[in-house]
Amino acid sequence: MTARSLDGKACASSVEVALHNRIAALKEHGITPHLAVVIVGNDPASHVYVNSKIRTCERLGLTSTHIELPADALENDVRKHIENLNLRDDVHGILVQSPLPDHMDEEGLTELIHPTKDVDGFHPVNLGRLVQGRTDGLLPCTPHGVMNMLEWGGIELKGKRAIVLGRSRIVGMPAALLLAARGADATVTVAHSRTEDLAERCAEADVIVAAVGRPNMVKPDWVKPGAVVVDVGINRVDDPSRERGWRLVGDVDPAVREVAGWLSPVPGGVGPMTIAMLMSNTVRAAERTVDL
Ligand code: GUN
Repeated sequence: MTARSLDGKACASSVEVALHNRIAALKEHGITPHLAVVIVGNDPASHVYVNSKIRTCERLGLTSTHIELPADALENDVRKHIENLNLRDDVHGILVQSPLPDHMDEEGLTELIHPTKDVDGFHPVNLGRLVQGRTDGLLPCTPHGVMNMLEWGGIELKGKRAIVLGRSRIVGMPAALLLAARGADATVTVAHSRTEDLAERCAEADVIVAAVGRPNMVKPDWVKPGAVVVDVGINRVDDPSRERGWRLVGDVDPAVREVAGWLSPVPGGVGPMTIAMLMSNTVRAAERTVDL
């Protein structure tokens, strides 16, 4: 068997098509959705992600504000920017790119973003709503993108066994909550660095969501034939054959393609969907200001 591709680019395009009408409706009310992105320091990967978010805003006709601060900026500088953006009626979404430098309290700064503008969905109010089973709010973009890809593939989750590898606040835990939520109805295992018999637990699963940040960790013999495998990993590995000296690989060994029923590619899988869901959250945040 060769897995079908859970094509994040194609799925993201269909999300964008649906957003066009909503953006046009907002513009009739005199509103252009506006995303503000704050980035601190020089992490090259973070700059690539942020530029990609800004470019997508431009493509969709959203306004964006890009605030760049040096690595030695004070936490208080970031605080002031967030407070100022919270107060601006013309800004609908605020995102502080992670990771922040070590001297900053990332969770504290996340909590400072007003929950109605928290387009990353990381504020405790928004994560708390998700824990309560309310999936109609601002959801974390990567797990929300994963759920959309599964729907795009027509993949039935009801009663199925899903395993999420990784328990992060940004991906693993919210992905587990969304998979188990009413409507999705999967039976979910959350695996992490202390999980025993990981390969066996994976091999029992109908759906594997890998979000651990370890290149090629999930091997073909961990995967039940025909299972759905979503690869959230984006790992840079050295590759002297490339001009830039590295390439991106996922958490899933590419040989899994020969066993799985569906597999999301890296790049071109979850990455484009994360950005699409960020755009969707920004539009949603803007709609809420006019009761659309
Ligand atoms: N860094 C890696 N992924 C993300 C994300 O989804 N949001 C933010 N703010 N930072 C990130």
